[in-house]
Amino acid sequence: MIELLKRLIGRQTDIPSMVRERFARIATNPGRERRRIGPAVAKELGYDPGEIDRLPESVTESFAGVGNPLSLVEVRPGDVVLDLGSGAGLDSILAARKVGPSGRVHGIDFTPEMIERAQRNVAAVGLANVVFFESAIEAIPIPNDNADVALCNGLFNLCPDKPKALAEVYRVLKPGGRFAIADMLLEDSVPPEMVARKGAWSD
Ligand SMILES: C[S@@+](CC[C@H](N)C(=O)[O-])C[C@H]1O[C@@H](n2cnc3c(N)ncnc32)[C@H](O)[C@@H]1O
Repeated sequence: MIELLKRLIGRQTDIPSMVRERFARIATNPGRERRRIGPAVAKELGYDPGEIDRLPESVTESFAGVGNPLSLVEVRPGDVVLDLGSGAGLDSILAARKVGPSGRVHGIDFTPEMIERAQRNVAAVGLANVVFFESAIEAIPIPNDNADVALCNGLFNLCPDKPKALAEVYRVLKPGGRFAIADMLLEDSVPPEMVARKGAWSD
């Protein structure tokens, strides 16, 4: 009984575990999610509606981004692109189409259920130039100076150690590499008790 209580208390204070549990549910059961996700949200955020409609529903229904990082950066044929916090793989798939067969995309996400869904999605659209890595952004399994472009859609607000995550992005980007980030910012008006509520990190 004491062991069970310790485990439950430990889980409540472990932000990455809570974030992982939340996004595992979005990967496996998007229809039950209360957060605004899916193809309609992608269109509101500026993704091309025709392109969204032409993708399989399995790609778009677990889309949980907060912006459209690909609209902020040039992605060229042959580029190496990192999609950090790649989720179900929407940005990875769109980037892979832009880089073409001579380029490649590495998606990084620490939720196994998201990685599985993204791998199935990439196979469903017939792309061979995307690889997903199950890893935390705080320790990206990619050598230094490797990527031309890093994309990030809704990841940094979920990271407890933002300087460490940012340092990793700069480590893996080539000199002169481009970094496009869509994220949420904390405004002063958010009450401190809400900031302190750890469950809110995954909302
Ligand atoms: C808001 S979702 C966005 C997913 C995707 N970018 C999209 O636009 O649909 C954030 C994703 O980042 C992943 N994530 C959160 N914190 C992470 C971390 N520290 N390292 C790696 N992945 C993380 C989650 O598992 C989730 O899939």
